[in-house]
Amino acid sequence: MPFDRSIKIAPSILSADFANFGAEIRAIEAQGADWVHVDVMDGHFVPNLTFGPPAVKAFRPHVKTFMDVHLMIAPVDPYIEAYAEAGADMLTAHVEAGPHIHRTLQAIRAAGMKAGVALNPGTPAEAVRDLLPLADMVLVMTVNPGFGGQKFIDMTAKVRAVREMIGDREIHIQIDGGVDPVTAPLVAAAGADVLVAGSAVFRGGSVDRPEVYGANMKAIRDAIAAA
Ligand code: DX5
Ligand code: ZN
Repeated sequence: MPFDRSIKIAPSILSADFANFGAEIRAIEAQGADWVHVDVMDGHFVPNLTFGPPAVKAFRPHVKTFMDVHLMIAPVDPYIEAYAEAGADMLTAHVEAGPHIHRTLQAIRAAGMKAGVALNPGTPAEAVRDLLPLADMVLVMTVNPGFGGQKFIDMTAKVRAVREMIGDREIHIQIDGGVDPVTAPLVAAAGADVLVAGSAVFRGGSVDRPEVYGANMKAIRDAIAAA
C-alpha cells in the first residue's frame, strides 16, 4: 500500500472477544478500520500473555487491510521468520527488548515485512535516531505496555521530536495506549498518523452490534477533524 500521512485507525484486537477473532476482525474492517493491530505479549517482556505465531497465522485470512503486529516479547530475533510466515505486513519490535535492535530491524525487512520500532514511555526519542534508515514506522507508546484500558501518558513532546527527526522520510508515527476522542487530537497535531485504539473502539459493541465499533471510530476521526 502506498505511503501516506493521513490519519489511520488501527483497532487493537486485544480488546476483542478472544473466542471470536475472525468475526471481530471482519466487523472492525467493515466498520472502517484502516489497519488491524495485533498485540503479541510473552509474560516476560511485559507482565501479560496473549498469543503467538499460530494464532496470528489464523487471523491472516480475515485481515483484508493491513496486519500490524506489535511484538512485546524478548528476545525477538528467533521469532521473526515465524511472523513472516504467519503473514504480518508490519512487525514492530521494542528498542528495550534487547541490545541489537538495529540487527532486528534489518532481519525484519530481510524477511519481507515492514519494520516498526517501538519506544516505551521511559525511553527518549533520541533512541530511534540511528534506526530511522531501517524503520518504516516509529511506535510511541502512551502507556506502559501489557494491558488495554490504561490511562494515556502524554508523550506529545516525544512525538514532535520524532516527527522532526523523520523529516520527509516515508516513516509512519504510531501511537498506542489510551487513545480516545480526547487524546487522539493531541497526538495527531503532534505528527502521529497511525492511532491504535483498543477499548475506545470495542467499547459497547460486539459482532452483533458492529455499528458501535463504527461509531466509536467515527468519534475519534471527528474529534481530530474538529480540533
Ligand atoms: C498495550 C497494547 C495496546 C493496547 C491498547 O500494551 O500494546 O495495543 O491494546 O489498548 P487501549 O486502547 O485500551 O489503551
Ligand atoms: Zn499494541
